[in-house]
Amino acid sequence: MKYPLIKTSLPGPEGKKLIQIDQTYVSPSYTRVYPLVVKEAKGVWVHDVDGNVFLDFTAGIAVCATGHCHPEVVQAIRDQAERLLHMSGTDFYYEPQIVLAKKLASLAPGEGVKRTYFGNSGAEAVEAAFKLARYHTRRELNIAFFGAFHGRTMGALSLTASKTIQKKHYYPVVPGITHIPYAYCYRCPYNLCYPQCGLECVRWVEETLFRTTMPPDEVAAIFVEPIQGEGGYIVPPPEFHRELYKIAKKYNILYVADEVQSGMGRTGKMFAMEHYGVAPDILAVAKGIASGMPLGATIASAQIMDWEAGSHASTFGGNPVSCQAALTTIRLLEEGVMANAAAQGDRMINRLKELQKVYECMGDVRGKGLMIGVEFVKDRETKERAGDWRNLIVRRAFERGLLLLGCGDNTIRFCPALTVTEEEVDVCLSIFEKCVREIAR
Ligand SMILES: Cc1ncc(COP(=O)(O)O)c(C=O)c1O
Repeated sequence: MKYPLIKTSLPGPEGKKLIQIDQTYVSPSYTRVYPLVVKEAKGVWVHDVDGNVFLDFTAGIAVCATGHCHPEVVQAIRDQAERLLHMSGTDFYYEPQIVLAKKLASLAPGEGVKRTYFGNSGAEAVEAAFKLARYHTRRELNIAFFGAFHGRTMGALSLTASKTIQKKHYYPVVPGITHIPYAYCYRCPYNLCYPQCGLECVRWVEETLFRTTMPPDEVAAIFVEPIQGEGGYIVPPPEFHRELYKIAKKYNILYVADEVQSGMGRTGKMFAMEHYGVAPDILAVAKGIASGMPLGATIASAQIMDWEAGSHASTFGGNPVSCQAALTTIRLLEEGVMANAAAQGDRMINRLKELQKVYECMGDVRGKGLMIGVEFVKDRETKERAGDWRNLIVRRAFERGLLLLGCGDNTIRFCPALTVTEEEVDVCLSIFEKCVREIAR
């Protein structure tokens, strides 16, 4: 069995040199939680510039769906790079963008013809969804959720309600957005219990919001993550999206699913909304779609994507190399990688739930497929958030060669490559348990 190998202090001497230069020349707005300086990576194994080897359960923030540098993805990139690097799909036609749009149309839930707008990132995919919702409905108001992360461009940022640091000094943002509580059952914002709650978080939208401050016929869209990502890997109850979608339909409001983190097989289905039986009106994807190449896609029915030529575009969006990487990624997902995500995810959640029985500080274990969160608390009864313990565990894991990331205030997320093996999951869990045991003591 392969294990991480840490042979220097962290960062090592080469890493230290690079970090020093970074600290002078690179934007200080980035949030590095530990000093990992990567040289190369394959599958779930990352090598730093000092020869240390790490087991990566972050996949570059849920991006490298098929693992780092999957040989078939790399080959597709090489082949395409030799043929055509760029031509701008906004002004000309080329095959990879057209073929990918057709493929995405066949994958996206829902009937009828669908069309795709291509951008370069998650924020751009959401930005396009935001503009399209306004354009199509000619309505000005929108609903999003507390805890949501939709990106950092001005429109996407306006929908985001994750951390105040992301908005501080940037007001005024786009007006007309109302944030409402997400279906966070472990910490119900209404202090109720599922299922006795009768889904108060959904009922409230119609019974309070639409009767007091938001005329529903002026609402363009509800923007929602099927499973909240940056907010803490929060899995809503099974009926949540279906019931909210019903309200949206009643008032001709668009249901926009931000699947930037949850999409492209991560939860064991191509799109997480499929777990909830809802076909969103607009679907935003990015991250895992091209295994590490920059690409964002906004998918909607041809009827909704009715904007005219010139109303929205991006020079680099739908770059041919990224499109080929996406086509290979999707083929690999369909050939077994997505099924592996479902199987390894189930196994991992079950193992984490076993650990939860032993360690009081593991307040909640939740997730679908390989989108798994463990929320840390100081006390099971009071559920006091243990953000400091979470941070310590992430740090200790790094020192032992396991790469993890937090999300929310006090949750650790596990979002490895969807190609991860049983043995790699076991190595991750054994290191994770050592770190938790240390904290529990
Ligand atoms: C759900 C969701 N939407 C949008 C984004 C923004 O994506 P990007 O960082 O590629 O702009 C993210 C990034 O974490 C995300 O998780």
